Amino acid sequence: MRIERARGTRDFLPEEMKKRRIMEERMREIAERWGYEEIRTPTFELAELFTLKSGEAILEEMYEFKDKGGRHLALRPELTAPVIRMYVNELKMAPKPTKVYYFGNCFRYEEPQRARYREFWQFGAEIIGSDRPEAQAEIIALAFYCLKSLGIKAELHVGHVGLIRERLRAANVGNDEINRVMRLIDKGEREAVIDFLNEIGTKNELIDDLICLVDLKGRDALKEARERNIVGSDSDALKELEMLLEILDYYDVLYTLNLGIARGLDYYTGMVFEIYEVGGRLGAQNQICGGGSYQLAALFGGDDTPSTGFAFGFDRLAEIFLPETMHLESMKVVVIPIRTKNGDRDVMKESVKIASKLREFFPTYIDVMSRSLSAQLSYAAAIHASFAVLVGKNELKEGKVTLRNLDTGEQEKMSVEECVERIKAF
Ligand code: HAM
Repeated sequence: MRIERARGTRDFLPEEMKKRRIMEERMREIAERWGYEEIRTPTFELAELFTLKSGEAILEEMYEFKDKGGRHLALRPELTAPVIRMYVNELKMAPKPTKVYYFGNCFRYEEPQRARYREFWQFGAEIIGSDRPEAQAEIIALAFYCLKSLGIKAELHVGHVGLIRERLRAANVGNDEINRVMRLIDKGEREAVIDFLNEIGTKNELIDDLICLVDLKGRDALKEARERNIVGSDSDALKELEMLLEILDYYDVLYTLNLGIARGLDYYTGMVFEIYEVGGRLGAQNQICGGGSYQLAALFGGDDTPSTGFAFGFDRLAEIFLPETMHLESMKVVVIPIRTKNGDRDVMKESVKIASKLREFFPTYIDVMSRSLSAQLSYAAAIHASFAVLVGKNELKEGKVTLRNLDTGEQEKMSVEECVERIKAF
């Protein structure tokens, strides 16, 4: 019986894994150089970790279940809440800011489509202990440099949920209603925003202001918002955003101001940003990174701890990442024991030793199917190996092996050490 994969999941074949590994290593290296340390949290958590902030409705979008002990669990849909839970439980006493990064799989019960999966990976970072513009700028710049290390061109949009929230709060709109509006804005459903605000009796003037704010884009958006009197010049959100943009300039990070960014998750309190792929290779799912400032620690039993972070959709990056060259990583060497009836043991013993030596430098294969010389060579060709190291009785007598270049067919006897140098220089 043929068994299919579960809907929305994928298998990753060796070539794909190689590519993903290169990406992961590059991003890891950047994060570490910026002073972030890696952490890992469990794949499943108590479901309430995710419902506390967002309410029971979020269960619809999660893989949640009761375990045999009757505990209500959920596969993590994202990593920010787990990281802050871990911080409150384990890292409260660590020096502030606490800077961490993570790479892990997440699960969302969504309708699968191109670049949208039910199991996907996130690479992210959090600065716990600061949501000041300096921290916001560092987080955005880190994301920007990660992309740079992958050679991916993208467009960064920066906004601030405080501007919209402040405006609604001043008009006495309640928190739950504000969250609802933010979610509708995030989905780009303008008409629904207008209908909902009308429904709860919001003044037309405010609705107009809000829609105008959502539509403001580009470098002059803040000036425009001020000139049109949509935000007061004493607005904290506005001052914070201006400071952030100034520091982003210090980092040479290019951005588009977009006050319509609302983000789908409920915990953002200030700056928010999204990065989109340019080039149209991801279709509708072109958001490759999302992040912002938030407060979650107090909700999980800790002190009020402002934080700022982001997460990349790693799978979306993998779809558009083009490795310049995989030459070194994929150069394979095959050690080929040439067996004779009586010489099996010696040849095998030396071949194993030679393979161990070569493995210090290159991905090295050795026959494990007792195949003939020609079958071993066919296998070497089939896996696109670059070199074969032939080990026969004659070679052993001379203390040498035969190195064959599998592309050109040229071959030469030499010591194993010379082989290593020759292959390295290739
Ligand atoms: P998010 O925007 O929900 O934010 O997810 C981050 C990224 O994960 C998205 O930009 C997208 O590229 C990717 N992503 C989301 N859902 C899927 C899916 N079904 N299939 C493939 N990729 C997907 C967060 O999760 C926040 N925790 C980010 C954050 C960290 N904010 C502060 N710190």
